[in-house]
Amino acid sequence: MITAIYPGTFDPITHGHFDVIERAVSIFEKVIVAVALNSPKQPLFTVAERINQIQGLVKNCKNIEVDSFKGLLVNYAKSRNARVIIRGLRAVTDFEYEQQLALMNRRLNDEIDTVFLMPSERFIYLDSSIVREVARLGGDLSHFVAPAVAEQLMRKFSQKEQQKS
Ligand code: COA
Repeated sequence: MITAIYPGTFDPITHGHFDVIERAVSIFEKVIVAVALNSPKQPLFTVAERINQIQGLVKNCKNIEVDSFKGLLVNYAKSRNARVIIRGLRAVTDFEYEQQLALMNRRLNDEIDTVFLMPSERFIYLDSSIVREVARLGGDLSHFVAPAVAEQLMRKFSQKEQQKS
């Protein structure tokens, strides 16, 4: 049984991430979607909110677990008996950074391999920052995130507006 970890900041999870998750669960016996706790990014959503969003989307999939992790990804992977890290590769611009990350992770633990999955071309322009930007400016989010996530994004930004005024 091969367990794979799909790590990320997921701030928030988008249709592009979900597309990668669906592909991963059709290949691996178990997939752990792992929210990074010590990301250098300043997330809009708390870890609990992000875990909740992901759990809401994957609730009907039996072989998925949603978790969070601190510290090095390879150490977390080892602690979960996972020998595969999943990363999405959207465009050639992702390649250099992903190669660096994969090779560094291999240097840290050569028993763990990175597998790259390409999301549908409908989602290759998506990332979480651009979705947050559309939400901040009140745009239609239905093509980018699940309805529950869209609602939470709108709520976050309206709270922020209220705090400002
Ligand atoms: N659909 C939509 N968006 C996607 C995507 C897809 N299929 N694939 C990637 N993205 C987006 C992400 O949402 C993210 O957007 P953002 O920058 O607006 O937040 C961006 O593309 C990818 O960002 P990146 O920084 O590459 O990845 P990440 O934030 O998702 O996760 C970790 C990075 C957590 C995996 C990595 O930092 C890590 O492993 N940290 C732990 C410490 C460690 O072990 N480091 C490595 C060795 S030093």
